[in-house]
Amino acid sequence: MKKLLIVFGTRPEAIKMAPIIIKLRDTQPIETRICVTGQHKDMLYPVLSLFGIEAHYDLSVMKKEQSLSYVTGAVLDGVSNVLEEYAPDLVLVHGDTTSAFAGCLASFYKSIPVAHIEAGLRSGDIFSPFPEEFNRRAISLMSSFHFAPTEESRTNLISEGINDSSIFVTGNTVIDTLLLTSQMRSELILPSSPFVLMTVHRREHSDADISAIFRAVRRFCIDYPSLCVIYPVHKNPRLLRLSSQILQDLPNVALTPPLSLVDFHHALRNCHFVLTDSGGVQEEAAYLGRPVLVVRNTTERSEGERVGALKVIGNDEQRIYQAMSALITEKGNYKKVLHSCLAFGDGHASQRIIDILQKI
Ligand code: UD1
Ligand code: UDP
Repeated sequence: MKKLLIVFGTRPEAIKMAPIIIKLRDTQPIETRICVTGQHKDMLYPVLSLFGIEAHYDLSVMKKEQSLSYVTGAVLDGVSNVLEEYAPDLVLVHGDTTSAFAGCLASFYKSIPVAHIEAGLRSGDIFSPFPEEFNRRAISLMSSFHFAPTEESRTNLISEGINDSSIFVTGNTVIDTLLLTSQMRSELILPSSPFVLMTVHRREHSDADISAIFRAVRRFCIDYPSLCVIYPVHKNPRLLRLSSQILQDLPNVALTPPLSLVDFHHALRNCHFVLTDSGGVQEEAAYLGRPVLVVRNTTERSEGERVGALKVIGNDEQRIYQAMSALITEKGNYKKVLHSCLAFGDGHASQRIIDILQKI
């Protein structure tokens, strides 16, 4: 029996690894163990319970307002110990978080091959998103197998000198997860008026950038009182502080704790449009045909941008306000972007990944 170790530690990795983990339960001849780094805690564990995932190892690294170097060091040490104990034949990591980077580095130091899921996304700017763009590139350098979600991500990898025979285009597993949650019942009561769903959390945003985004939302809510904004606030204390300072008093803004995945997907399916700096939310909303305004200067999901599903609008207050308003006032243009974008996946990515894992 070949031994596989899956390493992850944040909410989005758990969401995108879940369909693979579920399928691996019945996959011979692979024995799987799960190492959760605990980079996230309260945002991570509900996803594990939703899909009945139990970690064999939990490094519990999370601290309040943790630094990148702290998380990197703690995950590197912790995963190294797990590798000593379990001695897997292959390690699986996902995406671009510090858990993925440090888990990959620990495996590389022990000469254990790594397979990287969601490989080849590139914004082209090493500082955006920060530190994720660096993490992605470093993980690609260290990995032996690359599961690229799209042809474009494969091309990015080839242009960096990665051997084509080690790249497999599979689609993004986030679409598989969306199909799983579409079978689950949400208890969330949505507003009867049209609403905007918003998420903001990127580390590279300064306090001034985040304040500018929130001020734009504030103006929008004041000018369009019949609409509302639902904003599940990321647990990072910086976001909690700024959102309560700038948005809390508005009657048509709902600042909530992070929503369960089922509730968040339910809100996403029903919202008027999405304002986000999240990676996964861009893919999900595009697939569900909800227009997405990306409050960042770059996207590594340009497949969605090209077909008009995503619009990158940066973090200038006036530009954000105008882009939000345009989705209300320009009804013809709004309708044009209401179609499902299939560029990110078809719901079968996890099966493709498992089939390849069995071969390699
Ligand atoms: C991390 C990832 C980012 C991903 C995001 C998903 C890195 C460098 N960044 O960023 O790529 O998009 O997760 O959300 O890996 N916190 C809690 N409870 C939680 C999670 C976080 O209280 O369950 C608070 C803690 O104070 C923590 C802070 O948020 O110190 C930041 O968490 P961290 O994982 O370091 O960064 P994220 O911004 O979440
Ligand atoms: N999400 C969630 N609850 C929320 C907000 C987001 O379950 O309140 C899910 C969302 O559906 C997506 C993922 O979290 O699958 C995105 O995570 P995040 O934005 O934290 O990270 P990123 O994708 O930017 O790395």
